Amino acid sequence: MFDRRTFLKKAGVLTGAFSATSLFNHLHAQEWGTLAEDYKNISPSEMATKEDYWSVIQKGYSASSDPLIMLNNGGVSPSPIVVQNAVEKFNLMSNQGPSYYMWRILDQGRENLRESLAKLGGCSPEEIAINRNATEALVTVIYGLDLHRGDEVIGSHQDYPNMMLAWKQREMREGIVYKQLSFNFPVENDAEIVAAYQNAITPNTKILHLTHVINWTGQIMPVQKIARMAHEKGIEVIIDGAHSYGLLEFNIPDLEGDYFGTSLHKYLSAPIGSGMLWVKKEKISKVWPLVCAGDPKSDNIRKFENLGTRSFPIEQGIGEALNFHNAIGTKRKEERIRYLKDYWATRALEIPKVKLHTSLKHEYSCALACVSIEGVSPTDLSDQLMKTYKIQTSPISYENLHCVRISPHVYTKISDLDTLIEGLEKISRG
Ligand SMILES: Cc1ncc(COP(=O)(O)O)c(C=O)c1O
Repeated sequence: MFDRRTFLKKAGVLTGAFSATSLFNHLHAQEWGTLAEDYKNISPSEMATKEDYWSVIQKGYSASSDPLIMLNNGGVSPSPIVVQNAVEKFNLMSNQGPSYYMWRILDQGRENLRESLAKLGGCSPEEIAINRNATEALVTVIYGLDLHRGDEVIGSHQDYPNMMLAWKQREMREGIVYKQLSFNFPVENDAEIVAAYQNAITPNTKILHLTHVINWTGQIMPVQKIARMAHEKGIEVIIDGAHSYGLLEFNIPDLEGDYFGTSLHKYLSAPIGSGMLWVKKEKISKVWPLVCAGDPKSDNIRKFENLGTRSFPIEQGIGEALNFHNAIGTKRKEERIRYLKDYWATRALEIPKVKLHTSLKHEYSCALACVSIEGVSPTDLSDQLMKTYKIQTSPISYENLHCVRISPHVYTKISDLDTLIEGLEKISRG
C-alpha cells in the first residue's frame, strides 16, 4: 500500500521547523548551545553588553552594515538566514505541486506553529489565530465587534493610522462615536495616562483601543493598568501589540486586554507578511470573522484563519523565526535591544542642539526612540543620514511630533551606532 507518510518523510517534506532536522538545528544549535553554556549564569542586562555573544547572533542575519545600515526595524525587520532559507525551501516545494504541497503538507504545520506562538505569548493555543500582519489581526476585531449607533470607542491620535482609519470607517458607516485622546510624549507617569482614558469614558463607552508600544515615539504604555480600570467599568480593551510581541517579555493575558494583535515581521523577525491575533477564549464567539467562516459565531479561533489562498511558505517560515528567537531568549533580546537604544541615545544627548523625544527610563522604552536636531527638519535629517552615512531611519512629522525614529535590532552592530552618532554630530554642526 502507498504509505504517504513514509514517502513524504523520505522526500524530506515533513521536516518542519520544530523537528530535530530544522534548519536552525543544522546551522546554529551546536554553536549557540556551547555559547549559552558559557553564559548561563549571567543576567540578561549584563549579557546585553557581551559583544562576543552578540557577534555570533549577528552572523545569523544576512542584513549587514553594507550597503545600508538599517535602523528602521520598527517598520519591518529582516529575517535571519535560517528563516529566509525555510521560506525558500517551502516555496520550491509548493511550486512542485501547489495544491498538494500547500494544502496537504504545509497546512499540517499550522497547529505546531499555533502552539509555539502561544507558548511565547504565555497563553492558550486555542486563543491564537495566524494571519498576515497586525493590521489584519486588529481590523478583524475592529470590524468584527457588534456596536450600535452612539456607542463610543476611545483611542488616541498616537495609535497606528490603519487602526484609526478602520474606526473612522465604522464611524462614517454606522454612526459609532470614535474619540481620540492626544498625548504629549514622553510621559513618565502611569497615573496620568490612565487618568486620560478614565476621564474620557462616558456611559456610552464600549471599547478602549490601546497601543502597547507607540510606533511614533517608542513610548511603552501601561496597558495593564488602563485595561484594569476599563474592565471595572465593563469596557472591553483592544491592544495593538505590533511592536511588543517578540521584543518585550510578557504574557499576553497578563496585559488584561480582551484582544491583542501583532505583526510577526517586526521584532520576532519572522517572514515579511506574517501576523497573529489573540482573542480571550470567552470572547471568540462574539467576534465576527473578517473574511467568512462556516459558523461565524463559533468559539473556535480557527474561524479567523479562513483567508483564502495565501503564502504558506511565509506562514511556515515563522517556525524557524521562533527557533531563532527562543534560542536567544526574550529577556536577553529585550535587554540587548534596550542597551543598543541606550547606547546611541545617551551619546546623542551629549551633542549640542540634539533633543530626544523618548523617555530613557527602562519601563517606558525599549527598541524605538526618536531624535531631532534644532534647525534641521526630520526629512532633512533622515535624508542626510541616508545620503552621507547610508543609514535608513524613519522621519516623523505628525501632530506635535517632529523627529527621526531610530530602531535597532539584535543584528545591529555597535559600530553602526557609532556611525549614527558621528552623523548626528556632523549634521548638528551644519
Ligand atoms: C503600532 C502599530 N500597529 C500596527 C502596525 C501595522 O503593522 P502591519 O503593517 O504589519 O500590519 C504598525 C506598523 O508599523 C504599528 O507600528
